[in-house]
Amino acid sequence: MEIIIKPDAKSGCVLFAKIIADLVKNKPNAVLGLATGDTMEPIYAELVRMHQEEGLDFSRVTSFNLDEYVGLGRSHNQSYRYYMEKHLFCNVNISTDRIHVPNGLATDIPAACQRYEEEIKAAGGIDLQLLGIGRIGHIGFNEPTSSLASRTRIKTLTEATIRDNAPHFENEKEVPIRVLTMGIGTILEARCCLILAFGVKKADAVASMVEGPITSMVTASALQLHPKTIVVLDEDAASKLQLRDYYRHVYNNKPAWQRYE
Ligand code: GLP
Repeated sequence: MEIIIKPDAKSGCVLFAKIIADLVKNKPNAVLGLATGDTMEPIYAELVRMHQEEGLDFSRVTSFNLDEYVGLGRSHNQSYRYYMEKHLFCNVNISTDRIHVPNGLATDIPAACQRYEEEIKAAGGIDLQLLGIGRIGHIGFNEPTSSLASRTRIKTLTEATIRDNAPHFENEKEVPIRVLTMGIGTILEARCCLILAFGVKKADAVASMVEGPITSMVTASALQLHPKTIVVLDEDAASKLQLRDYYRHVYNNKPAWQRYE
């Protein structure tokens, strides 16, 4: 894993968005794996700004979102499809027929999940998978004890995740208990994973992901098996990493051709 520690969330977001934009410029038909959550909002705002002010072109980009709530359709204001429309899809020139979000209203869920996997494959696989991390160390909605070989499927949320996501709903009872999510096996097949975390509330999860054992109790730790994962943190999210000085040293001494900025 490559660990990049930025002084604050703002500079972390600028770098994170730049890595995405550089891929889209170099490979206009890139396949992006997209994530939701509060952490991602400034990223999409920056990509929208780049589209509007600098002409960043999404017309040939294909996207696959990580996850969706079971039972929520695109018109529900807490569905991840709605989130994506609001923060990105409606504000850039991505083509609707290249957008993929797991269908929370699917009647045959196993068949819909299987089809999602096939669509990823047919698109040539994911070039860059964006990820946030839950406080319990999940990626997507791969809750603790998810198989590290899992594929897109239905999952039941833990109480901790329901509590964490409840502030977005009118009350905790409104949070769907089931979700569809790409599996850890699906995520690990992306050519590059780019994960973002800010704030002290993510520090334990980040430390477990980067420096802890690989375990299904912290599904993000499976990224240690991925050959190209870039982790962008602010100082607070990095505060529990034992080797944080080493990561800074590595980053500051990278040869120019390896740098992102
Ligand atoms: C949800 C999403 C994850 C996201 C996590 C953190 O559980 N399924 O993909 O990484 O929330 O969200 P936030 O960025 O709001 O902390």
